[in-house]
Amino acid sequence: MASIRWKILLAFFLIVGISFIVAAKSMTGIVSDYLYEQRRRDDTLKTEKLAQKAAPLFQSVSSSELNDLLEEEAETMGGRLILTDNDGKIQYDTFQSLCGQRIQVDEAIRILTGEATEDYSIHNPGREVVETMIGEPADYIACSAHEMNGYKGRIGAALFVSNVQSMMDSVNRVQVQLIRVFAVIAVVALAFALLLSRLLTNPITAVSRTMRKMGKGDLSVRVPVRGSGELRELAENYNTMAAQLESLDKTRNQFVSNASHELKTPLATMKILLESMLYQPDMPSEVREDFMQDMNHEIDRLTGIVTDLLVLTRMDNGEEMKRGIVNMTELTRETIHQLTPAAEKNRQTITEEVQEEMFLYGDRSKLSQILYNLMDNAIKYTPEDGQISVSLREEDGNVVWRVRDNGIGIPEEDQEHIFERFYRVDKARGRETGGTGLGLSIVKQMVRMHDGTITVRSTPGKGSEFVVTFPQEGEEA
Ligand SMILES: Nc1ncnc2c1ncn2[C@@H]1O[C@H](COP(=O)(O)OP(=O)(O)O)[C@@H](O)[C@H]1O
Ligand SMILES: [Mg+2]
Repeated sequence: MASIRWKILLAFFLIVGISFIVAAKSMTGIVSDYLYEQRRRDDTLKTEKLAQKAAPLFQSVSSSELNDLLEEEAETMGGRLILTDNDGKIQYDTFQSLCGQRIQVDEAIRILTGEATEDYSIHNPGREVVETMIGEPADYIACSAHEMNGYKGRIGAALFVSNVQSMMDSVNRVQVQLIRVFAVIAVVALAFALLLSRLLTNPITAVSRTMRKMGKGDLSVRVPVRGSGELRELAENYNTMAAQLESLDKTRNQFVSNASHELKTPLATMKILLESMLYQPDMPSEVREDFMQDMNHEIDRLTGIVTDLLVLTRMDNGEEMKRGIVNMTELTRETIHQLTPAAEKNRQTITEEVQEEMFLYGDRSKLSQILYNLMDNAIKYTPEDGQISVSLREEDGNVVWRVRDNGIGIPEEDQEHIFERFYRVDKARGRETGGTGLGLSIVKQMVRMHDGTITVRSTPGKGSEFVVTFPQEGEEA
C-alpha cells in the first residue's frame, strides 16, 4: 500500500540521506586534503633541509660524519633516510640494509630522471612491506624525495620515508564520527517524519473512514475538526456536505412517509364506505348515493395528490423548462376567468388590476400554475362573501403578481412553514377543503425556476397577501 504516509517518510529519508552523503563527502574531503597538504609541506621542507645539509658531506669523503648526521636527522624527523647518487645507487641508508642497491622508490626515480626536483606521495603497499621499509607496523607510509645539489648541479636524491598511519587514522576518525552523527540525525529525522506524516495523514484517514461509514448508509457520522489550514478546511467542508446529504435524506424520507400517509387516508375512507355498502345490501338508496358521492370525492382527492406529487418529482428530477415569451396580461386574465366560477360558488368577488402589454420570458404552464394555486388558496381560505384581488404590475423593472384576500389569514408562526411540502396550518380543515399541502411548495419551486421570489404577509382573521416577483432580465429575446 503506497500510502501518503510512506511517501512522506521516503521523501524525508531521501532528502536527509542525500544531503548528508553530500555533506559528509565534502567534509571528509576537506579535512583529508587539509591534513595531507600540511603533511606534504612539512615533509617536503624537512627533506629539502636534509638534502641541503647532506650535500656538502656527500661530496666529500667523510662518510662517518654524514652517517652521524643522517642518524641524528632520522631521529628528529622520525623515519628512514636514504641518499642515492645520480645513478640511483643507494649510498647511505639509516637502516643500512639497502646500501649499494639500486633505488626502487618512484619518487626518488623521478628526481633522478629530472622529472621533478621534489616529489611526495602516500602509499598503502601492505603491512609487511611497510614493516621492512620503516620497521614499524602500519598501513600507510609517505615517501618524500628531494634532489641534492652540489656546486655543479644535482649530485643525487634524498629520500625520507615515514609512517603516516596516525594521519590516516584521523581522517578515518572524522568519517566514523560523521557516520555516527548521521545515525543520530537519521533517527531524529525518522521520528519527525513519522510525526509529520501522522499529522498530515490522520485527518485524511479520518475523512476516508467517515466516508466509508457514510457509504454504508450511516449519514450521521462526522469528521472531528482539528488543527488549521487545508486539512481543517477539508474536514469542515466534508462535514458541511455530510450535513446537507443527511438533511436531504431526512427530507426525502419524510416526503415519502408524508406522501404515503396522505394517500392512505382517502383509501381507508373509501374502504370503510365500500365495506358498509357491501355488508348492508339493504341500505337505503339515498344513503348509498351519498356514500358513492363521498367515494367520488375521495378519488378526486387521490387524483389531486398524485398529480401534485408527479409535478413535484418531475421538478425534482430537473425537468426542462419550456421557455418562451409569455404574455402575462393574457395569462393572468385567463386564470382569473378559469377560477371565477369557484369564487362565485362561494359568493366571493374577484377584483382585478392587470397592466396591459406585460411580457415575461418563462414557462407558460408553470406560470399559470403559480397564479392558479395562489388564487385557489385565496378562494379556499376565504369565507363566503369574501373579497379576492389579483394584480399584475411592473414594479422597479420586475413583473409582480399580488394575490390578496380578506380570509382567515395565517398565524405568524406558520408563515415560514407554509411553503414546505405537506404543510397545512389546520390539518383537519385542510383535508375537508381538499388541500394536500403541496400547492405552495410547488408554487415556490416554480417561482425559483424563474429566478423569482415569493413572500407572504398575513394577519389571522384579516386576510393574506402573496407577492410574486419575477426579474425581467431573461426577457431580452
Ligand atoms: N390565502 C391563504 N389564506 C390562509 N391560509 C392560507 C392561504 N394560502 C395558504 N394558506 C395556508 O397554507 C397552507 C399550505 O398551502 P398549500 O400548500 O396551497 O396547501 P393546501 O392548499 O393544499 O392546503 C394551507 O393549508 C393553509 O393553511
Ligand atoms: Mg393550495
